[in-house]
Amino acid sequence: MAKLVVDKLTKTFGDFYAAKEISFTANEGEFVTLLGPSGCGKTTLLKMIGGFHQPDSGRIKIGEKEVTHLTPEKRNTAMCFQSYALFPHLNVSHNICFGLKQRKIALSEQKKRLEKVIQQVGLKGQELKMPSQLSGGQQQRVALARAMITQPDVILFDEPLSNLDAKLRESVRYEIKELQKQYNLTSIYVTHDQSEALAMSDKIIVLNAGSIEQMGKPEDIYFRPTSRFVADFIGAANIVKAKVKKANSANYYHVACELGNFYVYSDISPRAEEVYVCWRPENLHYIEDGPVANISGMPENFCYIDIEKLAFMGSTTEGFGRCGEGLSSFRVQFQLKPNLSQSNKACFRLTENAIHFLEPVRQGS
Ligand SMILES: Nc1ncnc2c1ncn2[C@@H]1O[C@H](COP(=O)(O)OP(=O)(O)O)[C@@H](O)[C@H]1O
Ligand SMILES: [Mg+2]
Repeated sequence: MAKLVVDKLTKTFGDFYAAKEISFTANEGEFVTLLGPSGCGKTTLLKMIGGFHQPDSGRIKIGEKEVTHLTPEKRNTAMCFQSYALFPHLNVSHNICFGLKQRKIALSEQKKRLEKVIQQVGLKGQELKMPSQLSGGQQQRVALARAMITQPDVILFDEPLSNLDAKLRESVRYEIKELQKQYNLTSIYVTHDQSEALAMSDKIIVLNAGSIEQMGKPEDIYFRPTSRFVADFIGAANIVKAKVKKANSANYYHVACELGNFYVYSDISPRAEEVYVCWRPENLHYIEDGPVANISGMPENFCYIDIEKLAFMGSTTEGFGRCGEGLSSFRVQFQLKPNLSQSNKACFRLTENAIHFLEPVRQGS
């Protein structure tokens, strides 16, 4: 396994930028996810790393070697696709060994590696079955084994779980992650599924229209989004415009927005006086007997939301509502189904570190 360095990779189709100056590093054994909506350039980027697309500009290094212009066979990567791309007329063993045979690896070596990898992915006893006799999850394991057996420096995954049903997707997700950790596989993993990205990755790169929107650990991406795009794409978020003023204590701010006035802690400074802010529904805490507004208004960090809709989600109940005459609809979360029969007004307290500063509000927007 080796480190991968992607440096200012750009790819255009006509005058359309599918990837624009993309730079990142995947360290040896690191699991890096390219996350973004359909069409944002994930597959294009992966194909450039694998050598199936030539970039217009930029460089790719694997280990100490520059591979930017090498053919796929000459760079030691392996690709694991969504459609598995198993050969229907070859049994499990032959499918797994296909790449080795092409590379004319000695039969004895093939056998040795096959035995090991079959054990690793848990396919013992299935060696002679044809792909059509396997479940979706097993087929995915064959595809993974076929990638691992070539002992690649980097494994590239393109939405490998999207053909599996929800339950299986979760269990295979943990299997892949387990193998990746155990064998220290440098992995570049493409998905549009944010929960998959959060659960599996060491590093997430959020892509938007061919550019990197934000890069960081899953916790950073989830808890410290820096743009509306990321806040909205990862999990549920409430996003509004706000006016921000520095408070007297370091890293504290007064934030005024449609929801009310808040005293906020943030170690990231706002980029302007008027910015978009966001918070997760779970950071607004329902206070059953909330404070009554005094003459000068609500105390800071408390607010009332008129709940218009409740949805029971099992472990929590979700609510949607507005603040007074406000235009925005806010999403809130209750640990237990609230008793709101008297009035739909629910009081909430926002924790002081729940508000994140996003991009500045542009004049006229
Ligand atoms: N061979 C191609 N020719 C022209 N446009 C392409 C080609 N491949 C991809 N694109 C375009 O580039 C954009 C990114 O595609 P892709 O990398 O497949 O996105 P993703 O994998 O994130 O869904 C899309 O708008 C797609 O239509
Ligand atoms: Mg794709």
